[in-house]
Amino acid sequence: MAAALQTNIRPVKVPATFRALSEQSSAPFRVRCAVASPGNKRYNITLLPGDGIGPEVVSIAKNVLQQAGSLEGVEFSFREMPIGGAALDLVGVPLPEETISAAKESDAVLLGAIGGYKWDNNEKHLRPEKGLLQLRACLKVFANLRPATVLPQLVDASTLKREVAEGVDLMVVRELTGGIYFGEPRGIKTNENGEEVGFNTEVYAAHEIDRIARVAFETARKRRGKLCSVDKANVLEASILWRKRVTALASEYPDVELSHMYVDNAAMQLVRDPKQFDTMVTNNIFGDILSDEASMITGSIGMLPSASLSDSGPGLFEPIHGSAPDIAGQDKANPLATILSAAMLLKYGLGEEKAAKRIEDAVLVALNNGFRTGDIYSAGTKLVGCKEMGEEVLKSVDSQVPASV
Ligand code: IPM
Ligand code: MG
Repeated sequence: MAAALQTNIRPVKVPATFRALSEQSSAPFRVRCAVASPGNKRYNITLLPGDGIGPEVVSIAKNVLQQAGSLEGVEFSFREMPIGGAALDLVGVPLPEETISAAKESDAVLLGAIGGYKWDNNEKHLRPEKGLLQLRACLKVFANLRPATVLPQLVDASTLKREVAEGVDLMVVRELTGGIYFGEPRGIKTNENGEEVGFNTEVYAAHEIDRIARVAFETARKRRGKLCSVDKANVLEASILWRKRVTALASEYPDVELSHMYVDNAAMQLVRDPKQFDTMVTNNIFGDILSDEASMITGSIGMLPSASLSDSGPGLFEPIHGSAPDIAGQDKANPLATILSAAMLLKYGLGEEKAAKRIEDAVLVALNNGFRTGDIYSAGTKLVGCKEMGEEVLKSVDSQVPASV
């Protein structure tokens, strides 16, 4: 099974220069080291296309990654593995052992999306989502960075008024491997009255809060120096400890201005005045919800990439959108979130900032040239499908001309 899905692809162009990896990391994590062959660097990337629009957007992002890498002296070996519904159909589990090993052995993992109607009624442990949650746990990717930036080109695609949306540039730092998503006890049981009861546990140990808080402080330090910690400390004990630990760490980051906000207020403030936020840090479930909300400020959930990072192992990079089964296979998906996730893979996962910048600039050029998929289309722009958008970005990757924003 694994062998059938495996592909090793070499880039067409032989890169000319070798650049040292030192001092290139953009995040408070160790970047992965490349194996050097004469004149170039090589990384192993696991591709997990998944379900719905996942395969369409990942195949485009792979080409963009390869092209940007080849122009900066970086080669990739890609290995494609099943996850989610695709894996359920193939081998009966949402995260096969072979996929776990491939992901762990690689330098970075690029994921499309998982899920679909077909598997919606599966038992909990046989749902596609289970595969993604297990993968996050296996890779120990506790820090999830979800940037939401309103690009000037897309300000009119936002559902918010121009003056509210314009200039928004925020980063949600979501704790990804703890909290109510993983807490025990959990389950559905029958109580003494014979009634069914569903229950979950929101639980955070001090070390889990400290490590995500440190990532958030470091992230804020590299941005505009403002960190807002979001919790529900007026009700939940797990949030009381969260606030206490985050507050205690603040003295180590005197250059970062820390504030706290209850999650209900944060949800309101995000649509009232999103520009007040720079970096936000929050638990797993609040981060899930707030990052979807933040994405809509930017115009479309189809624009938002994410990086999930561990202390030292490979990172997991994925668009924050779902598998969109309603448009799957119709060449309608927006590939930009996955393309931008590939840029995050280069920047945060491999420390290859120049190649990452090429991709980011190429996306801006394609947008500047007026190309839009359906989700970000507005009058006067050119409506294109997923493939054509990918081709436009690929063309622009080669361009040395910096995008004018
Ligand atoms: C996300 C998704 C996942 C989550 C689902 C698919 C399990 O909504 O990455 O935001 O809840 O974390
Ligand atoms: Mg979500």
